[in-house]
Amino acid sequence: MSWRLLSLFQPRKLSFGAGALGVFADDFLATGYSRLIVLTAPPIVPLIDATLGKMREKGVHVTLIDSVTREPTVSDLEKLLALAAEARGDSVVGIGGGSVLDAAKLVAATLRNPQPVSELFGIGKLKSRSAYLACIPTTSGTGSEASPNAILLDEADNMKKGVVSPLLVPDAAYVDPLLTLGLPPKVTAETGLDALCHCIEAYTNKFAHPLVDTYALEGIRLLVRNLPVAIADGKNIEARTALALGSLYGGLCLGPVNTSAVHALSYPLGGEFHIAHGLANAVLLPEVLAFNMDASAKRHAEVAVALGVERSGSDLEIAKKGVELIRGLVRSCGIPSKLSDLGVDISMLDKLSEMAMGVQRLLKNNPKELAIEDVKSIYRKMF
Ligand SMILES: [Fe+2]
Repeated sequence: MSWRLLSLFQPRKLSFGAGALGVFADDFLATGYSRLIVLTAPPIVPLIDATLGKMREKGVHVTLIDSVTREPTVSDLEKLLALAAEARGDSVVGIGGGSVLDAAKLVAATLRNPQPVSELFGIGKLKSRSAYLACIPTTSGTGSEASPNAILLDEADNMKKGVVSPLLVPDAAYVDPLLTLGLPPKVTAETGLDALCHCIEAYTNKFAHPLVDTYALEGIRLLVRNLPVAIADGKNIEARTALALGSLYGGLCLGPVNTSAVHALSYPLGGEFHIAHGLANAVLLPEVLAFNMDASAKRHAEVAVALGVERSGSDLEIAKKGVELIRGLVRSCGIPSKLSDLGVDISMLDKLSEMAMGVQRLLKNNPKELAIEDVKSIYRKMF
């Protein structure tokens, strides 16, 4: 078999497991950097206070910025950047969910970088990064700690836009499931389903590749089996650990293969209606899979089997059972199936569809080509 050439960028160090936060502190002290910008959100501060205190005692100048409370906009990034520059930071760590990690990646990349933020949107536009960057996720969903992507909301057109560059892969990532034990069921569900989308969209991708297929399939297995457990019992450390690994596997798929129509159709919902990223993806996932599955029945059948469907019947029959399983999983996670339940009015259908068609960087990955009428008909099913 001849496989196309593919490159996988990963953090130089990846620590996974209970206590990884402590490994970060020890590693940072050995880097030689001394002025650390910590980007986080208020609920995380009690979880990291003691670790940051120890780092301060060892002489690290720590500036804590805990104002990353939403998916970052261009002006949010500019404010964070001003704070980081004022603190004369030489290193950045993001400790939080996807919004925090993306913000940290972009602050590290733009600190002391003359390129304006508006020039960074797209693939490979970033020319350099001088600040050290570490990422520590506190949700199991984004996979951002292992990806070269960061998403920003551009207020100019209400579109969520991607900055994609190998320079956004952190120097080090620390995945510590202990940091996820306190997540409420709703956040657990939405972020976990986002991770599931990453794995499914990578495996069924037009540019799927064996280099990450294994991550994608194992991620699906881990996530589907453990998500209901962690939603019911957030303190279940085995389930939390499995979700953290599934999310990391999803993140490893994001750079080399990336997502497709679920994420493309979800961005307008986030940009225009501020629906949380994981929630928007979760609502879309069953309908997009139902649309896509006949284009690559074999791959969709493999997804279904990884989800737990028995391997009997044709590929398409198995794939259909997989879609129904996902539909049931999404429902049992408490996610609504209708966009109208999320405050979206059907009068927005044309605008949403046009905005989604603009996300060609992801639509090009979809196993089935989408015309604007296809996008409309997928959205229409959710009213
Ligand atoms: Fe995502």
